[in-house]
Amino acid sequence: MKVLIVGSGGREHALAWKIAQSPLVKKIFCAPGNPGIAEIAECVDIEAENIEGLYIFAQKQKIDLTVVGPEDALVAGIVDRFRDGHLNVFGPDKRAAIIEGSKAFAKALMRKHGIPTADFKAFDDAKQAKKHLTTGKFPVVIKADGLAKGKGVFICQTLEDGERYIDDIMKEKIFGYAGNKVVIEEFLVGEEVSILAITDGNTIVPLSTAQDHKAVFDGDKGPNTGGMGAYSPVPLVTPSMQIFVEENILVPIVHAMKRENRPYKGVIYAGLIITGTGPKVLEFNARFGDPETQVLLMRMKSDIVPLLLSTANGSLDLEKTVIDWDDNASICVVMASKGYPGGYEKGFSITGIEAAKGLNKAQVFHAGTTKKHGRLVSNGGRVLGVTALGKTIQDAQSNAYAAVQKISFEGAHYRRDIGAKAIVSNK
Ligand code: AMP
Ligand code: GLY
Repeated sequence: MKVLIVGSGGREHALAWKIAQSPLVKKIFCAPGNPGIAEIAECVDIEAENIEGLYIFAQKQKIDLTVVGPEDALVAGIVDRFRDGHLNVFGPDKRAAIIEGSKAFAKALMRKHGIPTADFKAFDDAKQAKKHLTTGKFPVVIKADGLAKGKGVFICQTLEDGERYIDDIMKEKIFGYAGNKVVIEEFLVGEEVSILAITDGNTIVPLSTAQDHKAVFDGDKGPNTGGMGAYSPVPLVTPSMQIFVEENILVPIVHAMKRENRPYKGVIYAGLIITGTGPKVLEFNARFGDPETQVLLMRMKSDIVPLLLSTANGSLDLEKTVIDWDDNASICVVMASKGYPGGYEKGFSITGIEAAKGLNKAQVFHAGTTKKHGRLVSNGGRVLGVTALGKTIQDAQSNAYAAVQKISFEGAHYRRDIGAKAIVSNK
């Protein structure tokens, strides 16, 4: 079969790498892809937001399955377009992708269906939002309602900070119409975990656990990024906690979406915080996480393609879909450009990838890279995701960092402590 992957990040490289291992797949296209993906797939120069262009391409090439990476395309309705044209596509449609596209929607749904989450209020008026701040405790969390590339959440310590941020979102519109509403919620304390599940709207298949590292510097210091690294599995999530999450979060959200007449097909990503009173949902995403996907797919031994295909056509069967996970742990260390998530320069020559891949079967997933005059150069904030397996998280960590040592580009920044929390909490 022919598969089209939409997107160009490390997540899409990991998906392409995994899908390429399936005996069912003859050819992979990726739009627009990146130089790492180009080694295993044919990259086509169509942006992920160009829904009509992608649809016409998929029709012409008789693509058997399209897998959508980024949220913007999902929220904009790429799946609706493909389904209308009778093409198999993995991902939620526009009505279902709202679970990520509007935090106010997701929070209201969780409240309605008793899914554990931080207490909150939503506002479409800046004055009311600011008034609400005067009644509560600090710190408090203020979130732009819509998509903001992971940058729309602000933890504010003082009333002045909060008022300024509400103005930035709702008046200055720093995130555009994503800031037409804000959600103000209770600040929760705990470790964060990502639990993803595949669902066709009826059957739910949870994946293994992963933990992202959102802050840019070691010790979770500095501003939040798209994700500086991840590991899997997460020892903090005990088997009984995993069952709790399935029963109280994953199953209820999928059923709630069905009852709201927004049947959900694709991968549902629960961003959780493990508080003193148990796991609570920080957010739902309508797609695979990045870099969670890199560590999860390194450990997935089963063929992913039947899983994606049966989800797309609504025939996911729990009895036939037991996912086999590698007992090894995996770690992904993101190498980023100096200055990210703020401004950064691009175009620095990258060396050492082959040497890194030669070590301990590490994989180097490309994110912000491009080719310039035949040379591989940096081209984004997150540049590479160096991913390795190991018997324990500690072993995976040594393997990943040994591979990182082989790679260089000017100003490369990476956290030195990916996985450290798991090692401490395991002792
Ligand atoms: P979100 O995009 O909603 O997952 O938020 C991004 C990040 O902000 C999360 O990964 C947390 O680190 C932090 N965050 C969001 N909501 C809360 C909350 N209610 N309490 C504490 N931290 C939060
Ligand atoms: N790793 C965070 C995300 O994918 O949203």
